[in-house]
Amino acid sequence: MLRPFTDQSPRQQLQPGWDDALTFSYCELDAMWVARWTTEAGWEPGQLFEHAGATLELSPGANVLHYGQTTFEGLKARRTREDKIVLFRPIDNARRMRQSAARLLMEAPPVNDFLDAALAVVRTNIKWVPGYQKGSFYIRPLLFGSGPVLGVQPAKEYTFLVYGCPVGQYMGGDSVVVLSSAHRAAPHGTGAVKVAGNYASSLQPQKAAKAMDCVDALYLDAREDRYIEELSGANFFAILYDGTLVTPALGSILPGITRASILTVAKEIFHWNVVERLVPIEEVLTDAVEAFYSGTAAVLSPVTRINYRGVDHAIGDGNPGPRAAMLRQALNEIQLQERPDYWGWVVEL
Ligand SMILES: Cc1ncc(COP(=O)(O)O)c(C=O)c1O
Repeated sequence: MLRPFTDQSPRQQLQPGWDDALTFSYCELDAMWVARWTTEAGWEPGQLFEHAGATLELSPGANVLHYGQTTFEGLKARRTREDKIVLFRPIDNARRMRQSAARLLMEAPPVNDFLDAALAVVRTNIKWVPGYQKGSFYIRPLLFGSGPVLGVQPAKEYTFLVYGCPVGQYMGGDSVVVLSSAHRAAPHGTGAVKVAGNYASSLQPQKAAKAMDCVDALYLDAREDRYIEELSGANFFAILYDGTLVTPALGSILPGITRASILTVAKEIFHWNVVERLVPIEEVLTDAVEAFYSGTAAVLSPVTRINYRGVDHAIGDGNPGPRAAMLRQALNEIQLQERPDYWGWVVEL
């Protein structure tokens, strides 16, 4: 059941030291945002509802339950040293949600409504934004076909909701494995959009990767089983011995906002040679001196070992390299307003 959030709504209590022990887990805070779209009325103005104890009522015929019309986003609000709350490129998340929705023939909220909802959720739960450098407030916008259908067809009602959770690190680990049993995306499939089915089908490969002491699977392309695509929830980069930063070109990978930011920082701040192209796995195993993965949740983490066809390969000297660290630091400083933001990426609450 959903109860509107009011002055009388119960507030969750902060415990001392709560932001010292953050994990990446679901939690229920004071308020979340919900809006609905119907064929008759279009998008209704959304509003805040109590988050703690909230449940959703859904028709058993809701499209999302049968045919999977659903897409989500993930972005972060963080506290700066000056105690401002900042979001990183939220408009890009709003745009990506619209692209994902279009691929599944869903209605999506206009960019400004998405942004207003995200800001309202942060504002209402502001005490849960972790302290400077302690963690982040992860914002989870979600859109699904809530209208009932029987045959395969788009829903006639959509629900958009946004909630948030304070989080610590996601996906720590520097080994990945190329599994012969799994591809993430087919050419012209749904790899380039953030739809839930991509993640449901990544659970089994992720489990197999973890069983091999790896943080995740590293997927190759489905056509030739040769070119690196990405991880289940992060983009992939390598730095070659000649200093070139390479990353798989867009196509069937998710166009990561962190990926785009890294490319810009590498080009415009560090003046590195940056190339988006096909990246054969053999090239990375022989020519890379560093590799790393990137994402909003994952941030930027080194890859020091790749298991390919049952053999472990060290990347470079097998230790985290200096250039990934430089990029991570620069990105972090831009996000926290400690370096100039030439591109207008940072949005203050
Ligand atoms: C499959 C996949 N690739 C890449 C990323 C990184 O995208 P972003 O940097 O926008 O978080 C994500 C995370 O959203 C993802 O799920």
